[in-house]
Amino acid sequence: MKHFAFFVMILMLCCCTEEIDVNAQPAQTPETGRTLIAYYSYTGHCSQIAATLADFIDADVVEVQTVAENQDYNANNYQLGRDLLNIINADPENLDSYPAIKPVNKDVDEYDNIIFITPLWHAQMAAPAQTYLFQNRAKLAGKHFGLIVSSHSSGIATVVNNAHRLVPDAEWMGESLWINNSQHPNRATLIENWLETLDFAVNEVPVTDKIYLTIDGRTKVMTLVDNAATRELVAALGNADITATVNDNDFELWGDLGRTFTTSNEYMTCVAGDVVLYSSRYICLFYGSNSYSYTRLGRIEYQSLDELKNFLKAGQNNVQVTLSLNAPTAQAGDADGNGYINMDDLTALINYLLDDNSAINPQGANVDGVEGIGMDDLTALINIMLNETPSHVY
Ligand SMILES: Cc1cc2nc3c(=O)[nH]c(=O)nc-3n(C[C@H](O)[C@H](O)[C@H](O)COP(=O)(O)O)c2cc1C
Repeated sequence: MKHFAFFVMILMLCCCTEEIDVNAQPAQTPETGRTLIAYYSYTGHCSQIAATLADFIDADVVEVQTVAENQDYNANNYQLGRDLLNIINADPENLDSYPAIKPVNKDVDEYDNIIFITPLWHAQMAAPAQTYLFQNRAKLAGKHFGLIVSSHSSGIATVVNNAHRLVPDAEWMGESLWINNSQHPNRATLIENWLETLDFAVNEVPVTDKIYLTIDGRTKVMTLVDNAATRELVAALGNADITATVNDNDFELWGDLGRTFTTSNEYMTCVAGDVVLYSSRYICLFYGSNSYSYTRLGRIEYQSLDELKNFLKAGQNNVQVTLSLNAPTAQAGDADGNGYINMDDLTALINYLLDDNSAINPQGANVDGVEGIGMDDLTALINIMLNETPSHVY
């Protein structure tokens, strides 16, 4: 009987526990929900960190800007920055102590996860960055919060303490990430590793050693070298194609990619087909030769110099080049998928029909559009090569 009573008690306890579990709110994890990247940047490091971070996660990005413009925080041995911090530290619970910032167009309320990126000033969190956190203190309560700090060389312990003071009720996703200025060129790797420690939903960065360049409807394969710039480029192209307007420069077409990439510049002599990065954000597509300090990106596969110049529109300005991870819709007849039609496609199609399907692009090999690849497609391809001369046949 005693045993039975004990059993009933255990059963009741179990039932109670189960009831509590059933009624509990499902815990919100950082892997789900919307993410906001908010940053303040005076000299540009944090803004580059924000851009690199945005390559790896699905997030909206917002910049904190001061109302006071053209401030020289570097002047007089960084005195202005020190003065602003002293005012905050004298009365940190008073909003008036914080330098005014412009309203931003993203509301923290709309997000589950916030990653905040700030410079370090005099061992502390930069004053305008503090304003943003202080203003959003209530909204950040209970939100998943991550912190990245950029400094010249000083350690970030006090900045982390500042953040705990400013947003005491945020739920930290993990350790903060410190990127000092000498590590800045390597930020992509640091950020990727850090995100892994947070168990955060990181975009799958496709593993590829080639991308596609399309100019005026023609596409060519570009083989990538492996470096930080190309890894960032592939990550960025995973989000969206990049189109750059390039202009002729006697030996190259070059133009702005619209954002910076991590450089690993070295003095080199570029030749036709080489693709390099100049000054961290300009793509250079070579059809001639030049020696300079560049970051290598890769090479364009081409058959003859004339064909390469024709593809690049050498000698012209305002040429639109689109970089993409995926080949545009396959052209009928482009069996090897390299963007143009020639004897290689005939060979690829014949090999395919002889049971060797390596290097075949099924869509391109399906020349007549009828399901399946067969002799009809070979005939159709030969007809294209003999009778028609579309602009993409070489
Ligand atoms: C006012 C001011 C004070 C700074 N104080 C420090 C410091 O104490 N230690 C340090 O390592 N870097 C210091 N720095 C350098 C910045 O932390 C560093 O360059 C950071 O990368 C700047 O980020 P940003 O380019 O996004 O503005 C200071 C910079 C400024 C403008």
